Amino acid sequence: MATTLDVLNRDFAIKGKLHFKEISGGLLVAEVTTLHGKATIALQGAHLMTFQPTGQEPVIWLSELAKFGRGKSIRGGVPVCWPWFGPHATDSKLPGHGYARTVDWRLVQVQSLSDERIRLEFELEESEATRAQWPHRSPVRNIITVGRALEVELATTNAGSEPFTLGDALHTYFTVGDVRRVTVHGLEGYDYLDKVDQGTRKQQVGAVTIGQEVDRIYLNTPSVCEIRDPALQRRIKISSSGSHSTVVWNPWIEKATKMGDFGTDGHLGMLCVETANAAEDVVQLAPGQVHRLVARYEVEPL
Ligand code: BG6
Repeated sequence: MATTLDVLNRDFAIKGKLHFKEISGGLLVAEVTTLHGKATIALQGAHLMTFQPTGQEPVIWLSELAKFGRGKSIRGGVPVCWPWFGPHATDSKLPGHGYARTVDWRLVQVQSLSDERIRLEFELEESEATRAQWPHRSPVRNIITVGRALEVELATTNAGSEPFTLGDALHTYFTVGDVRRVTVHGLEGYDYLDKVDQGTRKQQVGAVTIGQEVDRIYLNTPSVCEIRDPALQRRIKISSSGSHSTVVWNPWIEKATKMGDFGTDGHLGMLCVETANAAEDVVQLAPGQVHRLVARYEVEPL
């Protein structure tokens, strides 16, 4: 059952640091303000929508044309792809990237940490509709920590008696000054599946640059990569654990226009670098095991 605004504010608000409000489309949102940064998180999808360190441009991109509504995914922020990434393996009628980003999550815990960080822990609310799409007993939590850096941890438990295969991603949209001038480092020499070339396997030569539609799943990737952004004179460092793949995505103008929620030049100000377990890198989770997909985003001057 969806939580009401009054209950959230009564049980979890922290004066000057955390409160809850309703935005258009009837979505409930947590507004977090710390000394070092601020963020907003929708309870639907446990979807971080914005994050801005104090004195910086936003790190996370949210489309000016993002649509907010019950059961609709939001264009921007950190959508949670779970329990599969991309199209479902066997049933094309099931939603792309799973259902976690469009259902209600319950806020279960808030912590005010000693170094001024605020941590919110959400748990996906199972329902008949979710069980119809995913029969496994697998409680999942999304734990978001806001401070100078942003940390996101997606923790899945296999509470059933059979193993299952899990795909997941933190589908993060980053704000960039001009995507045509950005370089992504850390993926040099790694293989990727090129989704704009029928999934052909290729090898990355040099840093990744964006001058057309890019939709790639890099495989077996390392735990650190970096977006260098000369227009904003900064680099965004992405550190991860529990992730075997990195997805790099920019729809470019034609696809962005078709999507209808990017705006005319929206694609130039964003880049998705997704901390994932996708394609052949999906995770096998045995009964009793917990899988933690963790990403930390921090900004440094270039
Ligand atoms: C990326 C996929 O992760 O997400 C792309 O690799 C996809 O193929 C993109 O287009 C956006 O997906 P959606 O469902 O949010 O429009």
